Amino acid sequence: MTKTMIVGVGPGFGLALAKKFGQRGDTVILVARNEAKLKAYQAALTGQGLEVSYFVVDVNEHKQVETLFASETDVDKVIYNVGITAPDDPIHTAPQAVDARLHTNVTSCVDVCQQYLATEHPRTILITGGGAAWHPSMYTTTLAMSKAALRSYALALHDSVATSGVYVGLMTIQGISGLGPEMSPEKVASAYLKAVEARNQAEIFYPGGKLSEVSEFDQLKELAKNPAKRAALLQAHPEFAKYQHLLS
Ligand SMILES: NC(=O)c1ccc[n+]([C@@H]2O[C@H](COP(=O)([O-])OP(=O)(O)OC[C@H]3O[C@@H](n4cnc5c(N)ncnc54)[C@H](OP(=O)(O)O)[C@@H]3O)[C@@H](O)[C@H]2O)c1
Repeated sequence: MTKTMIVGVGPGFGLALAKKFGQRGDTVILVARNEAKLKAYQAALTGQGLEVSYFVVDVNEHKQVETLFASETDVDKVIYNVGITAPDDPIHTAPQAVDARLHTNVTSCVDVCQQYLATEHPRTILITGGGAAWHPSMYTTTLAMSKAALRSYALALHDSVATSGVYVGLMTIQGISGLGPEMSPEKVASAYLKAVEARNQAEIFYPGGKLSEVSEFDQLKELAKNPAKRAALLQAHPEFAKYQHLLS
């Protein structure tokens, strides 16, 4: 049976990806740090008849990633979905905090990809990027830096493994989860499914199929001008509450 490993599973895209690939008939391996949450996701998905296991791994810990791929040697697809997305600015984020985020968003992806490629039959890697890679911003500075670096890595990796039959795709998500009809996690997950079936694009722009001229943050600002939509946004994403002043 085909095995898909999702590295970075939370209630957003990670869980939707698990469900989507599980429904396709894949055995799904969930990877994240919080065991209680992983257990709950596993229970919910197996309750729907899907075949799911999980590993508690902090991707920033090389040894833990090593242990993961020592026990899972026959994975067909790996999706690197970890990403710290909180807004910040270029003046007040300490260099150590920038380093930590670049490590999680980029360096740990390099580690996961390299260790996966060293297993028995690596076949497909999908990497979750973001439109932020294309839109440097004084409000999402470190996110944009990290997604730009991640993009560069993903495209280089795509070229370097193409002749060995391994497909690497970068999913450049150009919107905010749950905002707008195309941005439901379920629809976003469908785009990953299409990508692994087509295996023909180094970078997939979702939604729209091409680079959006508007950054995710500008989409948020536009939406927040409408008080009702702003309230709905804060209800759906309570984590944005502390950044409200940036949306004015
Ligand atoms: N949300 C959006 O609107 C949006 C828009 C564009 C792009 N994206 C990208 O989409 C991806 C997923 O975002 P999401 O918000 O939907 O997340 P999600 O799938 O809901 O959750 C991702 C999970 O990654 C896990 N994680 C974080 N650090 C980790 C680490 N060091 N080691 C292992 N696991 C770790 C966290 O679970 P634990 O705490 O249990 O480890 C987190 O719940 C990210 O790459 C993000 O940049 C998101």
